[in-house]
Amino acid sequence: MDKITVVGAGNVGATCANVIAHKDLAREVVLVDIKEGVAEGKALDIWQTSSINNFNTRVVGVTNNYLRTKGSGVVVITSGVPRKPGMSRDDLIKTNATIVKDVTEKVVKYSPEAIIIIVSNPLDVMTYCAYQASNKPSNKVFGMAGILDTGRYRAFIADALHVSPKDILSLSLGGHGDTMVPLPRYTSVNGIPILELLGQDEIDKIVERTRFGGGELVNLMGTSAWYAPGAAAAQMVEAIVDDQKRIFPVCAFLNGEYGLKDIYMGVPVKLGKNGIESIFELKLLKDEKKELMESADAVKKVMKSLDDMKLF
Ligand code: LAC
Repeated sequence: MDKITVVGAGNVGATCANVIAHKDLAREVVLVDIKEGVAEGKALDIWQTSSINNFNTRVVGVTNNYLRTKGSGVVVITSGVPRKPGMSRDDLIKTNATIVKDVTEKVVKYSPEAIIIIVSNPLDVMTYCAYQASNKPSNKVFGMAGILDTGRYRAFIADALHVSPKDILSLSLGGHGDTMVPLPRYTSVNGIPILELLGQDEIDKIVERTRFGGGELVNLMGTSAWYAPGAAAAQMVEAIVDDQKRIFPVCAFLNGEYGLKDIYMGVPVKLGKNGIESIFELKLLKDEKKELMESADAVKKVMKSLDDMKLF
């Protein structure tokens, strides 16, 4: 790919740009921020690792200069404020919705063909906000959460079983919040169901820790996480750039799938050069379906706050 843009040179955006460069996914990565010098500095720092880490992707930073992002094939939007201890992701909506709308409009102006990946929180509703601001088809605008959530879930399972995290296959559905639905029934160690390897109590504890995985880090660091969120977004970029047709949980627009309409939420999708190429509808059990609906209700509540802002 010729050009990838990452908007927001905070911890998540800079980490994402760094991983994209390491994977050599494009000729150039443009990092954009509103704070004078921050994107320029971080981009220069990353570029100065190119000879050490053996990559060619040129990393460039700019302050608010969207003209420089022109012609990007993929744009990752990480803009907005992160959580502080005691805050939920939903508390961020007022500040971040205005920012995400503004950034999306600027991105689309210069890169009308770009596939847009949203990372800003509250994730599901910010992705909807970007979809509305972009006027693009929903297969080209989606959000990163499921790879992060299952990344945490897989790490916890790997610890519990003393196996490689690479061998943990898993799925999570629903909103990127405390009501997310990690699915033990769809989780295995290279095909061996974890239900045969771990007791129900242990699984319940892991599911609970996963649901609050973001909050655990906010409490430890005083701000939200960045290594796993940045790497997860970069993995989505890689699937698109290399047309990998990978199956990941992604925050996608639902139009009747799972009985839900006009809402963005985490579901398994196929990711390739056209963005979301298909959505998989699982045959859920009654309890799983109930949890998914509770998660949808939580997302709808935050959607109401977005609607009330009358941005569109
Ligand atoms: C998290 C934030 C980035 O889950 O949503 O860490």
